[in-house]
Amino acid sequence: MNARILVVGATGTVGRPLVAELVKGGMAVRAATRDPARARGVLPEAAEIVPFDLERTDTFDDALHDVDRVFLMARPGDEHADHLAFPLIEAMERHGVRHVVDLSALGAEARPSFALRKVEQRIEASPMTFTHLRPNFFMQLFTGGSLLAAVRASAIRVPAALAKVSWIDARDVAAVAAAVLVSDLSYAGKAYTLTGSQALDHAELAAVIEQVSGRTVRYEAIGEEEARRVLSGAGFPAPWVERLIGFYRLVRDEAAAPVSSAVQDLLGRPARTFSAFACEHAAMWRG
Ligand SMILES: NC(=O)c1ccc[n+]([C@@H]2O[C@H](COP(=O)([O-])OP(=O)(O)OC[C@H]3O[C@@H](n4cnc5c(N)ncnc54)[C@H](OP(=O)(O)O)[C@@H]3O)[C@@H](O)[C@H]2O)c1
Repeated sequence: MNARILVVGATGTVGRPLVAELVKGGMAVRAATRDPARARGVLPEAAEIVPFDLERTDTFDDALHDVDRVFLMARPGDEHADHLAFPLIEAMERHGVRHVVDLSALGAEARPSFALRKVEQRIEASPMTFTHLRPNFFMQLFTGGSLLAAVRASAIRVPAALAKVSWIDARDVAAVAAAVLVSDLSYAGKAYTLTGSQALDHAELAAVIEQVSGRTVRYEAIGEEEARRVLSGAGFPAPWVERLIGFYRLVRDEAAAPVSSAVQDLLGRPARTFSAFACEHAAMWRG
């Protein structure tokens, strides 16, 4: 039986550590990317790299040829990510893919209109077996993009009130995905909510960053109107701004606060803490 695994989003926050972990475990990994030359520089030598674009269905067949299992990531930041994911899922079925591990998001099961829930449902209706991973917000949000810029400017301004979030290290999501992908399919038909081992509000999180980096970092809870101005000013397109504001609404409702034991249950070790993550990334925040 062919055991090749296709990783969609192989250069991404979860995809990159996932490819590394699978290669380390001796698996045959095909890494999908729009930019193979750039990917070659960041992925392990042993990973096969294939040109792939969710917007180009003509790239699907080569990516899926002789593939047994797929790690599926829908296009990030896309309100209609299901539109691009559905043709790929159809192609996966045509190619006889046996199992799909899909990267969804915390609480997807309660939001029927959410694109990632539509992707989950499409997969559930497929003859392929599946495992849904539903992670909370990644700690890595603070080491890139607008939140890294906010930390470096010493002020995190988001509409999160003082609601707790059980942030997860994306490397833990990757470790769970790897464990499921190399398993004997005992995880088939299951969905896992993945969180860190503790929940911190943004003021507590800013305090940890301040402590490890030595940089003053203030948290200011702002309202939705101000958040619209901040996010638009940071260059987010209008639909993305509304999507992010919607996420913060869920955060204020404490929907992102619960702590799940799934990382411990699946990996036999606790999820990484934000303090440990912060110590590793202090230099980046100082920079
Ligand atoms: N960020 C969070 O806190 C969070 C929390 C829960 C769930 N999620 C979900 O996790 C997934 C990853 O989110 P992320 O924010 O961490 O993103 P990310 O992994 O950093 O996203 C970048 C990746 O997306 C790939 N990509 C972008 N457009 C593509 C396209 N048209 N075709 C193929 N690949 C494409 C890129 O591949 P190339 O550039 O190499 O082509 C790159 O590997 C998303 O589905 C998101 O909804 C995120």
